[in-house]
Amino acid sequence: MIEGKVKIGLIGSQFISTIHAETIKKVADAEIVAVMSPTLEHVKTFAENHKIPNYFTDLDKMLAMPDLDLVVIGAPNNLHCEITEKIALAGKHIVVEKPFCLNLKEADRMIAACEKANVKLMYAEELCFTPKYVRMKQLLDEGALGKPVLLKQSEKHDGPHADHFWDVERSGGGVMMDMGCHAIQFFRWLNKNNPIKSVYAQMSTSVHIDKTIGDDNSILILEFENGVTAMAEESWTKLGGMDDRAEIHGSEGVAYADVLQGNSIQTYSTKGVGYAVEKAGNTVGWSYTMYEEIWNYGFPQEFEHFVDCVKNDKEPLVTGHDGKAVLEVIMAAYESAGTGKKILLPFKTEIDKPYKLWKK
Ligand SMILES: NC(=O)c1ccc[n+]([C@@H]2O[C@H](COP(=O)([O-])OP(=O)(O)OC[C@H]3O[C@@H](n4cnc5c(N)ncnc54)[C@H](O)[C@@H]3O)[C@@H](O)[C@H]2O)c1
Repeated sequence: MIEGKVKIGLIGSQFISTIHAETIKKVADAEIVAVMSPTLEHVKTFAENHKIPNYFTDLDKMLAMPDLDLVVIGAPNNLHCEITEKIALAGKHIVVEKPFCLNLKEADRMIAACEKANVKLMYAEELCFTPKYVRMKQLLDEGALGKPVLLKQSEKHDGPHADHFWDVERSGGGVMMDMGCHAIQFFRWLNKNNPIKSVYAQMSTSVHIDKTIGDDNSILILEFENGVTAMAEESWTKLGGMDDRAEIHGSEGVAYADVLQGNSIQTYSTKGVGYAVEKAGNTVGWSYTMYEEIWNYGFPQEFEHFVDCVKNDKEPLVTGHDGKAVLEVIMAAYESAGTGKKILLPFKTEIDKPYKLWKK
């Protein structure tokens, strides 16, 4: 139990950390007390913009703060493991952004470090909190759609905003690693963590060959032990703004959900829109203008939950074990794309980065 507000430190000061800062402002039981990021100018400006009282370029200094309960990692994928281990040693609870880390050994290290330190390791997968998807899951759970047969989910945009995503040595892989992780956890959550039996994937680097050797388009098919099939489409080459959609096909019904375009204002402008939606690109002509994008994605709901878990010592909905399970599926997906075969789980591999299983 924590008396008063849960005191949070952010790591990172760019894209997702801005969402974390905006999000946590909406969570009544939380306050951001510090931010850490390696570039002084960035972290100082970030702290000023979000009225955060302390900023650091040295992680150890932030972790030495006695009044700090929870640290949120918004740094590139290749840093998730070493940063998690440091935070655990300092005895603070952790939210780690997706994807969990680069390989299964790192995943084990992260889980072990947090268990040893008796701190919570929470895996940030906002789709489990996205209000439209939560409502969709309720329809499935109440039986309105009958027995689930096919689950679908896809995320598509025209490519990431920072270099580290394109560099597979830092990201571990392309769009399957970056956005496939969302779909995999979404399917596991919808299907009540029923074990996944097999994984099949098709991947290509189709458009961004000058930028990356990672996959920029990927298709994933999962087979669950309870007979449900799940299919994900992930793209870094889709123009016109972020797309995030899901379908549940059941024996008694079907449900379609479109998180962004379905919730947007259909806008026509000859001049273009200042900000329409994530990665909107050119907005002259028709575009989809989003409102309350962070809420529609479920970030405040996600952090309400994580803060409640820390404050009241509750079991998080999405933990390090989920992060590792998702990574195992990602590994199997790259193996499948590399071999052309369907891969049975459990899948064990010593490989240090998923993309190598595809590019072998
Ligand atoms: N949940 C989501 O939908 C979502 C969305 C975007 C990004 N992410 C994840 O968040 C993470 C960060 O992505 P981003 O888009 O914010 O990237 P970004 O490039 O916008 O920001 C990365 C931040 O990490 C900081 N950083 C770099 N090296 C560091 C170090 N050694 N120690 C501490 N901080 C360091 C950078 O200074 C920068 O502030 C990635 O793992 C990404 O997959 C999740």
